[in-house]
Amino acid sequence: MTQRSFITTPIFYVNGAPHIGHAYISIAADVMARFKRLDGYDVFFLTGTDEHGQKVERAAAEAGIDPQTFTDQVSADFRDMAVRMGISFDDFIRTTEPRHKASCTVLWERLVAAGQIYLGHYEGWYAVRDEAFYDESELTTLSDGNKVAASGAPVAWVREPSYFFRLSEWQDRLLKLYEDPDFVLPAGRRNEVVSFVRGGLRDLSISRTSFTWGIPVPGAPDHVMYVWLDALTNYITACGFPDTDAPRWDFWPADVHLVGKDILRFHAVYWPAFLMAAGIEVPRRVSASGWWLAAGEKMSKSLGNVIEPRKLAETYGLDQLRYFLMREKPFGADGTISHPALVSRINVDLANDLGNLAQRTLTLIARNAGAVLPTGRATTEDDRSLADAAAALPGLLRERIDHQAFHEALEEVWKVIRAANGYIDRQAPWALAKTDLSRLGVVLRVLVDALRVAATLLQPFMPGSMARMLDQLGVPEDARDFAALATPLADLTPLPPPRGIFPRYVEAAA
Ligand code: MSP
Repeated sequence: MTQRSFITTPIFYVNGAPHIGHAYISIAADVMARFKRLDGYDVFFLTGTDEHGQKVERAAAEAGIDPQTFTDQVSADFRDMAVRMGISFDDFIRTTEPRHKASCTVLWERLVAAGQIYLGHYEGWYAVRDEAFYDESELTTLSDGNKVAASGAPVAWVREPSYFFRLSEWQDRLLKLYEDPDFVLPAGRRNEVVSFVRGGLRDLSISRTSFTWGIPVPGAPDHVMYVWLDALTNYITACGFPDTDAPRWDFWPADVHLVGKDILRFHAVYWPAFLMAAGIEVPRRVSASGWWLAAGEKMSKSLGNVIEPRKLAETYGLDQLRYFLMREKPFGADGTISHPALVSRINVDLANDLGNLAQRTLTLIARNAGAVLPTGRATTEDDRSLADAAAALPGLLRERIDHQAFHEALEEVWKVIRAANGYIDRQAPWALAKTDLSRLGVVLRVLVDALRVAATLLQPFMPGSMARMLDQLGVPEDARDFAALATPLADLTPLPPPRGIFPRYVEAAA
Protein backbone atom coordinates (compact mmCIF):
# COMPACT_ATOMS: atom_id res chain seq x y z
CA MET A 1 0.00 0.00 0.00
CA THR A 2 1.26 3.48 -0.83
CA GLN A 3 2.28 5.43 2.22
CA ARG A 4 0.46 8.68 2.85
CA SER A 5 1.85 11.96 3.97
CA PHE A 6 -0.04 15.08 5.03
CA ILE A 7 2.02 18.28 5.16
CA THR A 8 0.73 21.71 6.14
CA THR A 9 1.76 25.35 6.17
CA PRO A 10 0.24 27.74 8.69
CA ILE A 11 -2.81 29.43 7.26
CA PHE A 12 -2.03 33.10 6.83
CA TYR A 13 -3.84 36.02 8.37
CA VAL A 14 -5.39 38.15 5.70
CA ASN A 15 -4.76 41.44 7.45
CA GLY A 16 -2.11 42.50 4.94
CA ALA A 17 -0.10 41.47 1.89
CA PRO A 18 2.02 38.30 1.77
CA HIS A 19 5.68 38.75 2.68
CA ILE A 20 8.82 36.69 2.50
CA GLY A 21 8.10 34.96 5.85
CA HIS A 22 4.90 33.52 4.40
CA ALA A 23 6.68 32.52 1.20
CA TYR A 24 9.48 30.90 3.20
CA ILE A 25 7.38 28.54 5.27
CA SER A 26 5.32 27.71 2.17
CA ILE A 27 8.46 26.87 0.18
CA ALA A 28 9.78 24.70 3.02
CA ALA A 29 6.51 22.78 3.09
CA ASP A 30 6.54 22.58 -0.70
CA VAL A 31 10.02 21.08 -0.70
CA MET A 32 8.80 18.40 1.70
CA ALA A 33 5.67 17.73 -0.33
CA ARG A 34 7.53 17.47 -3.62
CA PHE A 35 10.25 15.34 -2.04
CA LYS A 36 7.73 12.88 -0.62
CA ARG A 37 5.86 12.67 -3.92
CA LEU A 38 9.08 11.88 -5.78
CA ASP A 39 9.81 9.33 -3.08
CA GLY A 40 6.59 7.47 -3.87
CA TYR A 41 4.28 8.81 -1.16
CA ASP A 42 0.68 9.77 -1.71
CA VAL A 43 0.90 13.37 -0.48
CA PHE A 44 -1.75 15.81 0.68
CA PHE A 45 -0.27 19.29 0.88
CA LEU A 46 -2.40 22.01 2.42
CA THR A 47 -2.10 25.76 2.65
CA GLY A 48 -4.63 28.56 2.94
CA THR A 49 -5.79 31.66 4.75
CA ASP A 50 -6.95 32.44 8.29
CA GLU A 51 -9.73 34.95 7.84
CA HIS A 52 -11.56 35.50 11.11
CA GLY A 53 -10.76 37.38 14.28
CA GLN A 54 -10.43 40.87 15.57
CA LYS A 55 -7.22 41.63 13.73
CA VAL A 56 -8.76 40.88 10.34
CA GLU A 57 -11.98 42.66 11.27
CA ARG A 58 -9.95 45.76 12.13
CA ALA A 59 -7.89 45.58 8.95
CA ALA A 60 -11.10 45.42 6.89
CA ALA A 61 -12.52 48.40 8.77
CA GLU A 62 -9.32 50.36 8.15
CA ALA A 63 -9.55 49.53 4.46
CA GLY A 64 -13.15 50.72 4.56
CA ILE A 65 -14.63 47.50 3.17
CA ASP A 66 -16.75 44.76 4.64
CA PRO A 67 -14.75 41.84 6.04
CA GLN A 68 -15.92 39.26 3.51
CA THR A 69 -14.98 41.40 0.48
CA PHE A 70 -11.73 42.28 2.19
CA THR A 71 -10.81 38.67 2.96
CA ASP A 72 -11.79 37.59 -0.57
CA GLN A 73 -9.28 40.07 -1.96
CA VAL A 74 -6.42 39.36 0.40
CA SER A 75 -6.93 35.60 0.28
CA ALA A 76 -6.73 35.73 -3.52
CA ASP A 77 -3.46 37.61 -3.17
CA PHE A 78 -2.05 34.88 -0.90
CA ARG A 79 -3.16 32.27 -3.38
CA ASP A 80 -1.42 34.17 -6.15
CA MET A 81 1.73 34.38 -4.04
CA ALA A 82 1.62 30.60 -3.51
CA VAL A 83 1.20 29.94 -7.23
CA ARG A 84 4.00 32.34 -8.12
CA MET A 85 6.31 30.72 -5.56
CA GLY A 86 5.69 27.33 -7.18
CA ILE A 87 3.82 25.97 -4.16
CA SER A 88 2.31 22.65 -5.27
CA PHE A 89 -0.59 22.69 -2.81
CA ASP A 90 -3.38 20.14 -3.19
CA ASP A 91 -5.92 22.27 -1.36
CA PHE A 92 -6.13 25.93 -0.39
CA ILE A 93 -8.42 26.29 2.59
CA ARG A 94 -10.18 29.47 3.63
CA THR A 95 -11.64 29.61 7.11
CA THR A 96 -14.67 31.52 5.81
CA GLU A 97 -15.75 28.51 3.74
CA PRO A 98 -18.92 26.64 4.75
CA ARG A 99 -17.02 23.33 5.09
CA HIS A 100 -14.85 24.95 7.75
CA LYS A 101 -17.71 26.45 9.68
CA ALA A 102 -19.36 23.02 9.75
CA SER A 103 -16.16 21.39 10.94
CA CYS A 104 -15.55 23.92 13.74
CA THR A 105 -19.13 23.63 14.87
CA VAL A 106 -18.88 19.85 15.20
CA LEU A 107 -15.54 20.07 16.97
CA TRP A 108 -17.03 22.53 19.45
CA GLU A 109 -20.00 20.25 20.05
CA ARG A 110 -17.68 17.32 20.63
CA LEU A 111 -15.74 19.30 23.19
CA VAL A 112 -18.98 20.28 24.91
CA ALA A 113 -20.15 16.65 24.90
CA ALA A 114 -16.83 15.63 26.43
CA GLY A 115 -17.37 18.13 29.26
CA GLN A 116 -14.38 20.18 28.12
CA ILE A 117 -16.09 23.54 27.70
CA TYR A 118 -17.74 25.73 30.33
CA LEU A 119 -19.04 29.27 30.46
CA GLY A 120 -17.23 31.81 32.61
CA HIS A 121 -15.79 35.30 32.47
CA TYR A 122 -12.50 36.25 30.92
CA GLU A 123 -10.56 39.02 32.51
CA GLY A 124 -7.00 39.54 31.42
CA TRP A 125 -4.54 40.74 28.81
CA TYR A 126 -5.20 40.27 25.10
CA ALA A 127 -2.97 41.16 22.14
CA VAL A 128 -4.97 41.57 18.97
CA ARG A 129 -1.81 41.53 16.87
CA ASP A 130 -0.97 38.03 18.13
CA GLU A 131 -4.60 37.06 18.71
CA ALA A 132 -3.33 35.69 22.03
CA PHE A 133 -4.11 35.90 25.74
CA TYR A 134 -1.14 36.57 27.99
CA ASP A 135 -0.35 36.16 31.65
CA GLU A 136 0.81 39.24 33.50
CA SER A 137 4.16 37.46 34.00
CA GLU A 138 4.70 37.28 30.24
CA LEU A 139 4.42 41.03 29.74
CA THR A 140 6.84 43.94 29.86
CA THR A 141 5.81 47.39 31.00
CA LEU A 142 7.09 50.18 28.77
CA SER A 143 8.23 53.57 30.02
CA ASP A 144 4.85 55.05 29.05
CA GLY A 145 3.11 52.51 31.27
CA ASN A 146 1.74 50.46 28.37
CA LYS A 147 2.34 46.73 28.42
CA VAL A 148 3.58 44.57 25.58
CA ALA A 149 3.98 40.84 25.01
CA ALA A 150 7.37 39.26 24.26
CA SER A 151 6.48 39.52 20.57
CA GLY A 152 6.27 43.30 20.98
CA ALA A 153 2.52 43.28 20.48
CA PRO A 154 0.58 45.75 22.63
CA VAL A 155 -1.91 44.18 25.02
CA ALA A 156 -5.17 45.51 26.39
CA TRP A 157 -7.15 44.49 29.44
CA VAL A 158 -10.23 42.57 28.33
CA ARG A 159 -13.25 41.71 30.44
CA GLU A 160 -16.06 39.73 28.90
CA PRO A 161 -18.13 36.59 29.26
CA SER A 162 -16.31 33.72 27.65
CA TYR A 163 -16.40 30.01 27.13
CA PHE A 164 -13.36 28.19 28.47
CA PHE A 165 -11.61 25.03 27.41
CA ARG A 166 -10.31 22.84 30.25
CA LEU A 167 -6.70 23.08 29.14
CA SER A 168 -5.54 22.64 32.73
CA GLU A 169 -6.61 18.98 32.60
CA TRP A 170 -4.22 18.16 29.76
CA GLN A 171 -0.85 18.93 31.25
CA ASP A 172 0.22 15.33 31.92
CA ARG A 173 -0.97 14.00 28.62
CA LEU A 174 0.77 16.81 26.78
CA LEU A 175 4.01 16.14 28.63
CA LYS A 176 3.67 12.50 27.63
CA LEU A 177 3.45 13.55 23.97
CA TYR A 178 6.66 15.53 24.24
CA GLU A 179 8.48 12.38 25.39
CA ASP A 180 8.70 11.60 21.69
CA PRO A 181 11.77 13.75 20.92
CA ASP A 182 10.54 14.31 17.36
CA PHE A 183 7.07 15.57 18.29
CA VAL A 184 8.32 19.14 18.51
CA LEU A 185 11.36 20.20 16.50
CA PRO A 186 13.90 21.68 16.86
CA ALA A 187 14.99 20.39 20.26
CA GLY A 188 15.54 23.86 21.73
CA ARG A 189 11.97 24.83 20.97
CA ARG A 190 10.72 21.53 22.34
CA ASN A 191 12.37 22.37 25.66
CA GLU A 192 10.58 25.72 25.73
CA VAL A 193 7.26 24.02 25.14
CA VAL A 194 7.96 21.45 27.84
CA SER A 195 8.84 24.08 30.42
CA PHE A 196 5.80 26.15 29.50
CA VAL A 197 3.55 23.15 30.07
CA ARG A 198 5.43 22.03 33.19
CA GLY A 199 4.85 25.52 34.57
CA GLY A 200 1.14 24.67 34.74
CA LEU A 201 -1.69 25.35 32.33
CA ARG A 202 -4.70 27.55 32.90
CA ASP A 203 -8.01 26.96 31.22
CA LEU A 204 -8.15 28.75 27.90
CA SER A 205 -10.67 31.37 26.89
CA ILE A 206 -12.10 30.13 23.57
CA SER A 207 -14.84 32.60 22.72
CA ARG A 208 -15.20 36.36 22.37
CA THR A 209 -18.20 38.63 22.57
CA SER A 210 -16.66 42.01 21.79
CA PHE A 211 -16.69 41.60 18.00
CA THR A 212 -18.57 39.45 15.51
CA TRP A 213 -16.20 38.44 12.69
CA GLY A 214 -15.93 34.75 13.50
CA ILE A 215 -17.73 31.45 13.65
CA PRO A 216 -20.71 31.64 16.02
CA VAL A 217 -20.59 29.39 19.05
CA PRO A 218 -23.32 26.73 18.68
CA GLY A 219 -26.25 27.70 20.88
CA ALA A 220 -24.66 31.02 21.92
CA PRO A 221 -24.71 33.30 18.88
CA ASP A 222 -23.48 36.34 20.81
CA HIS A 223 -20.13 34.53 21.11
CA VAL A 224 -17.73 33.86 18.25
CA MET A 225 -15.11 31.16 18.54
CA TYR A 226 -11.61 32.23 19.51
CA VAL A 227 -9.77 32.62 16.22
CA TRP A 228 -7.06 30.09 17.15
CA LEU A 229 -9.56 27.31 17.81
CA ASP A 230 -11.13 28.19 14.48
CA ALA A 231 -7.77 28.43 12.67
CA LEU A 232 -6.18 25.23 14.00
CA THR A 233 -9.26 23.25 13.03
CA ASN A 234 -8.49 23.98 9.36
CA TYR A 235 -6.12 21.02 9.31
CA ILE A 236 -8.88 18.52 9.97
CA THR A 237 -11.52 20.39 7.94
CA ALA A 238 -9.33 19.88 4.90
CA CYS A 239 -9.25 16.13 5.62
CA GLY A 240 -13.04 16.08 5.53
CA PHE A 241 -13.85 16.40 9.24
CA PRO A 242 -16.38 15.59 10.59
CA ASP A 243 -16.85 13.03 7.81
CA THR A 244 -14.40 10.34 8.77
CA ASP A 245 -15.41 8.38 5.65
CA ALA A 246 -14.14 11.24 3.47
CA PRO A 247 -11.32 10.06 1.20
CA ARG A 248 -8.91 12.55 2.70
CA TRP A 249 -9.59 11.53 6.27
CA ASP A 250 -7.01 8.79 5.66
CA PHE A 251 -4.36 11.52 5.60
CA TRP A 252 -5.01 12.49 9.20
CA PRO A 253 -2.95 12.69 11.43
CA ALA A 254 -0.64 15.15 9.71
CA ASP A 255 2.96 14.08 9.28
CA VAL A 256 4.08 17.55 10.10
CA HIS A 257 2.69 21.00 10.71
CA LEU A 258 5.35 23.49 9.66
CA VAL A 259 4.92 26.66 11.72
CA GLY A 260 6.85 29.76 12.70
CA LYS A 261 8.33 29.79 16.20
CA ASP A 262 5.87 32.58 17.01
CA ILE A 263 2.95 30.20 16.74
CA LEU A 264 4.48 27.06 18.18
CA ARG A 265 2.59 27.23 21.46
CA PHE A 266 -0.74 27.17 19.67
CA HIS A 267 0.28 24.14 17.62
CA ALA A 268 2.21 22.15 20.19
CA VAL A 269 0.06 22.84 23.25
CA TYR A 270 -3.47 24.01 22.45
CA TRP A 271 -4.00 22.02 19.27
CA PRO A 272 -3.07 18.56 20.60
CA ALA A 273 -5.08 19.30 23.74
CA PHE A 274 -8.18 20.21 21.69
CA LEU A 275 -7.74 17.07 19.61
CA MET A 276 -7.19 14.72 22.53
CA ALA A 277 -10.19 16.23 24.28
CA ALA A 278 -12.33 15.59 21.20
CA GLY A 279 -10.99 12.05 20.82
CA ILE A 280 -9.09 12.76 17.60
CA GLU A 281 -5.54 11.66 16.87
CA VAL A 282 -2.83 14.28 17.30
CA PRO A 283 -0.40 15.31 14.54
CA ARG A 284 2.87 13.40 14.33
CA ARG A 285 5.06 16.46 14.48
CA VAL A 286 5.13 20.22 14.80
CA SER A 287 8.30 21.76 13.40
CA ALA A 288 9.09 25.39 14.12
CA SER A 289 10.99 27.71 11.81
CA GLY A 290 12.99 30.75 12.78
CA TRP A 291 12.41 34.15 11.29
CA TRP A 292 13.84 36.07 8.43
CA LEU A 293 14.89 39.37 9.83
CA ALA A 294 15.08 42.70 8.10
CA ALA A 295 17.75 44.83 9.74
CA GLY A 296 17.68 42.57 12.78
CA GLU A 297 13.96 42.84 13.36
CA LYS A 298 11.23 40.37 12.55
CA MET A 299 9.54 41.26 9.32
CA SER A 300 5.88 41.74 9.79
CA LYS A 301 2.88 43.48 8.41
CA SER A 302 2.47 45.38 11.64
CA LEU A 303 6.08 46.61 11.60
CA GLY A 304 5.85 47.70 7.97
CA ASN A 305 9.27 46.31 7.02
CA VAL A 306 8.21 43.50 4.72
CA ILE A 307 10.00 42.10 1.71
CA GLU A 308 7.68 41.18 -1.16
CA PRO A 309 8.51 37.62 -2.26
CA ARG A 310 7.12 38.01 -5.75
CA LYS A 311 9.41 40.96 -6.39
CA LEU A 312 12.42 39.01 -5.14
CA ALA A 313 11.55 36.13 -7.44
CA GLU A 314 11.35 38.52 -10.38
CA THR A 315 14.70 40.07 -9.55
CA TYR A 316 16.67 36.93 -8.76
CA GLY A 317 14.67 34.10 -10.34
CA LEU A 318 12.19 31.89 -8.52
CA ASP A 319 14.40 28.82 -8.19
CA GLN A 320 17.32 30.98 -7.14
CA LEU A 321 15.18 32.49 -4.39
CA ARG A 322 13.87 29.09 -3.30
CA TYR A 323 17.41 27.74 -3.18
CA PHE A 324 18.67 30.71 -1.19
CA LEU A 325 15.89 30.49 1.40
CA MET A 326 16.42 26.76 1.95
CA ARG A 327 20.23 26.94 1.93
CA GLU A 328 21.07 30.12 3.79
CA LYS A 329 19.96 29.21 7.31
CA PRO A 330 18.82 26.16 9.26
CA PHE A 331 15.02 25.91 9.25
CA GLY A 332 14.75 26.48 12.99
CA ALA A 333 17.17 29.42 13.14
CA ASP A 334 16.78 33.10 12.32
CA GLY A 335 18.50 34.54 9.28
CA THR A 336 18.95 37.71 7.29
CA ILE A 337 18.23 38.26 3.65
CA SER A 338 20.59 40.57 1.85
CA HIS A 339 21.43 41.33 -1.74
CA PRO A 340 25.11 40.29 -1.44
CA ALA A 341 24.16 37.00 0.22
CA LEU A 342 21.66 36.24 -2.55
CA VAL A 343 24.13 37.12 -5.28
CA SER A 344 26.82 34.97 -3.72
CA ARG A 345 24.55 31.90 -3.53
CA ILE A 346 23.40 32.47 -7.12
CA ASN A 347 26.84 33.04 -8.60
CA VAL A 348 28.90 30.62 -6.54
CA ASP A 349 26.62 27.70 -5.71
CA LEU A 350 24.28 27.77 -8.69
CA ALA A 351 26.14 29.38 -11.61
CA ASN A 352 29.67 28.14 -10.83
CA ASP A 353 29.41 24.90 -8.89
CA LEU A 354 26.34 23.33 -10.47
CA GLY A 355 25.67 25.30 -13.66
CA ASN A 356 29.24 25.22 -14.97
CA LEU A 357 29.67 21.57 -14.10
CA ALA A 358 26.62 20.65 -16.17
CA GLN A 359 27.57 23.00 -18.97
CA ARG A 360 31.15 21.71 -19.19
CA THR A 361 30.04 18.09 -19.15
CA LEU A 362 27.28 18.53 -21.69
CA THR A 363 29.38 20.68 -24.03
CA LEU A 364 32.06 18.00 -24.11
CA ILE A 365 29.42 15.40 -24.92
CA ALA A 366 27.99 17.58 -27.67
CA ARG A 367 31.37 18.34 -29.22
CA ASN A 368 33.45 15.28 -28.55
CA ALA A 369 31.19 12.36 -27.80
CA GLY A 370 28.63 12.42 -30.59
CA ALA A 371 25.92 14.25 -28.61
CA VAL A 372 24.69 10.96 -27.18
CA LEU A 373 24.83 9.53 -23.68
CA PRO A 374 28.24 7.81 -23.41
CA THR A 375 28.30 4.07 -22.78
CA GLY A 376 31.21 4.09 -20.31
CA ARG A 377 30.95 2.79 -16.74
CA ALA A 378 32.92 3.69 -13.60
CA THR A 379 36.20 1.76 -13.54
CA THR A 380 38.90 3.58 -11.60
CA GLU A 381 38.82 4.33 -7.91
CA ASP A 382 38.27 8.01 -8.69
CA ASP A 383 35.24 7.13 -10.87
CA ARG A 384 33.79 4.86 -8.25
CA SER A 385 34.27 7.24 -5.39
CA LEU A 386 32.15 9.88 -7.16
CA ALA A 387 29.57 7.31 -8.23
CA ASP A 388 29.31 5.96 -4.68
CA ALA A 389 28.95 9.42 -3.17
CA ALA A 390 26.10 10.15 -5.59
CA ALA A 391 24.44 6.81 -4.88
CA ALA A 392 24.44 7.53 -1.14
CA LEU A 393 22.59 10.84 -1.58
CA PRO A 394 18.95 9.67 -1.64
CA GLY A 395 19.30 8.00 1.76
CA LEU A 396 21.06 11.00 3.27
CA LEU A 397 18.46 13.40 1.92
CA ARG A 398 15.51 11.37 3.12
CA GLU A 399 16.77 11.64 6.65
CA ARG A 400 17.55 15.37 6.41
CA ILE A 401 14.26 16.29 4.77
CA ASP A 402 12.31 14.23 7.28
CA HIS A 403 13.79 16.42 10.01
CA GLN A 404 13.33 19.71 8.16
CA ALA A 405 17.13 20.01 7.82
CA PHE A 406 16.79 21.53 4.35
CA HIS A 407 20.12 23.36 4.46
CA GLU A 408 21.94 20.14 5.36
CA ALA A 409 20.19 18.28 2.57
CA LEU A 410 21.49 20.90 0.13
CA GLU A 411 24.94 20.80 1.66
CA GLU A 412 25.03 17.01 1.11
CA VAL A 413 24.17 17.50 -2.57
CA TRP A 414 26.80 20.22 -2.87
CA LYS A 415 29.45 17.95 -1.38
CA VAL A 416 28.87 15.67 -4.34
CA ILE A 417 28.76 18.59 -6.78
CA ARG A 418 32.07 19.86 -5.41
CA ALA A 419 33.49 16.34 -5.61
CA ALA A 420 32.37 16.19 -9.24
CA ASN A 421 34.11 19.50 -9.92
CA GLY A 422 37.30 18.08 -8.38
CA TYR A 423 36.86 14.97 -10.48
CA ILE A 424 36.44 16.85 -13.76
CA ASP A 425 39.55 18.91 -13.02
CA ARG A 426 41.60 15.81 -12.19
CA GLN A 427 40.35 13.76 -15.11
CA ALA A 428 40.63 16.66 -17.59
CA PRO A 429 38.20 15.25 -20.15
CA TRP A 430 39.06 18.08 -22.57
CA ALA A 431 42.52 16.52 -22.80
CA LEU A 432 41.12 12.99 -23.06
CA ALA A 433 39.10 14.19 -26.07
CA LYS A 434 42.41 14.35 -27.93
CA THR A 435 44.04 11.23 -26.52
CA ASP A 436 41.63 8.58 -25.26
CA LEU A 437 38.03 8.58 -26.43
CA SER A 438 37.09 5.46 -24.55
CA ARG A 439 38.28 6.91 -21.25
CA LEU A 440 36.53 10.17 -22.20
CA GLY A 441 33.29 8.17 -22.48
CA VAL A 442 33.77 6.79 -18.97
CA VAL A 443 34.50 10.15 -17.39
CA LEU A 444 31.59 11.90 -19.08
CA ARG A 445 29.21 9.11 -18.17
CA VAL A 446 30.28 9.17 -14.53
CA LEU A 447 29.66 12.92 -14.54
CA VAL A 448 26.25 12.64 -16.21
CA ASP A 449 25.20 9.97 -13.74
CA ALA A 450 26.26 12.11 -10.77
CA LEU A 451 24.50 15.14 -12.24
CA ARG A 452 21.40 13.08 -12.80
CA VAL A 453 21.25 12.08 -9.13
CA ALA A 454 21.83 15.65 -8.02
CA ALA A 455 19.25 17.10 -10.41
CA THR A 456 16.68 14.46 -9.50
CA LEU A 457 17.07 15.15 -5.79
CA LEU A 458 17.13 18.91 -6.28
CA GLN A 459 13.78 18.96 -8.11
CA PRO A 460 11.81 19.69 -4.91
CA PHE A 461 13.96 22.77 -4.28
CA MET A 462 14.23 24.10 -7.84
CA PRO A 463 11.51 22.42 -9.88
CA GLY A 464 11.76 24.51 -13.06
CA SER A 465 15.56 24.57 -13.42
CA MET A 466 15.98 20.93 -12.54
CA ALA A 467 13.36 19.89 -15.08
CA ARG A 468 15.46 21.71 -17.68
CA MET A 469 18.63 20.08 -16.43
CA LEU A 470 17.06 16.63 -16.55
CA ASP A 471 15.88 17.36 -20.11
CA GLN A 472 19.45 18.13 -21.08
CA LEU A 473 20.75 15.03 -19.34
CA GLY A 474 18.37 12.92 -21.44
CA VAL A 475 16.33 11.71 -18.46
CA PRO A 476 12.83 10.78 -19.67
CA GLU A 477 10.03 12.66 -17.95
CA ASP A 478 8.59 9.49 -16.47
CA ALA A 479 11.94 8.55 -14.94
CA ARG A 480 12.50 11.47 -12.62
CA ASP A 481 11.31 10.06 -9.33
CA PHE A 482 13.71 8.63 -6.79
CA ALA A 483 12.88 5.00 -7.56
CA ALA A 484 13.97 5.59 -11.17
CA LEU A 485 17.50 6.34 -10.00
CA ALA A 486 18.03 2.59 -9.65
CA THR A 487 17.65 2.14 -13.42
CA PRO A 488 20.62 3.30 -15.50
CA LEU A 489 19.91 5.76 -18.31
CA ALA A 490 19.81 4.16 -21.76
CA ASP A 491 23.21 4.25 -23.46
CA LEU A 492 23.44 6.35 -26.59
CA THR A 493 20.33 8.43 -25.81
CA PRO A 494 20.63 11.53 -28.02
CA LEU A 495 21.11 14.67 -25.90
CA PRO A 496 19.82 18.10 -26.86
CA PRO A 497 22.33 20.93 -27.37
CA PRO A 498 23.37 22.19 -23.91
CA ARG A 499 22.00 25.50 -22.72
CA GLY A 500 23.02 27.35 -19.60
CA ILE A 501 20.60 26.91 -16.70
CA PHE A 502 21.85 29.30 -14.06
CA PRO A 503 22.93 32.68 -15.45
CA ARG A 504 25.26 34.69 -13.26
CA TYR A 505 23.66 37.63 -11.51
CA VAL A 506 25.33 40.68 -12.98
CA GLU A 507 24.90 44.03 -11.23
CA ALA A 508 23.27 46.59 -13.48
CA ALA A 509 25.78 49.31 -14.37
CA ALA A 510 25.37 52.29 -12.08
N1 MSP B 1 -2.95 32.84 11.13
C1 MSP B 1 -1.88 32.46 11.97
C2 MSP B 1 -1.54 31.00 11.77
C3 MSP B 1 -2.66 30.03 11.95
S1 MSP B 1 -2.18 28.40 11.64
C4 MSP B 1 -3.45 27.47 12.14
C5 MSP B 1 -0.66 33.31 11.69
N2 MSP B 1 -0.61 33.91 10.50
S2 MSP B 1 0.55 34.89 10.01
O1 MSP B 1 0.18 35.25 8.66
O2 MSP B 1 0.70 35.97 10.92
O3 MSP B 1 1.90 34.14 10.03
C6 MSP B 1 2.01 32.81 9.68
C7 MSP B 1 3.42 32.34 9.63
O4 MSP B 1 4.20 33.09 8.69
C8 MSP B 1 4.27 32.44 10.87
O5 MSP B 1 4.04 31.54 11.85
C9 MSP B 1 5.60 32.10 10.25
O6 MSP B 1 5.65 30.75 9.94
C10 MSP B 1 5.54 32.89 8.98
N3 MSP B 1 6.22 34.15 9.20
C11 MSP B 1 5.67 35.36 9.45
N4 MSP B 1 6.68 36.25 9.57
C12 MSP B 1 7.87 35.63 9.41
C13 MSP B 1 9.20 36.06 9.25
N5 MSP B 1 9.56 37.30 9.36
N6 MSP B 1 10.12 35.12 8.94
C14 MSP B 1 9.79 33.80 8.72
N7 MSP B 1 8.54 33.39 8.85
C15 MSP B 1 7.60 34.22 9.44
O7 MSP B 1 0.20 33.41 12.53
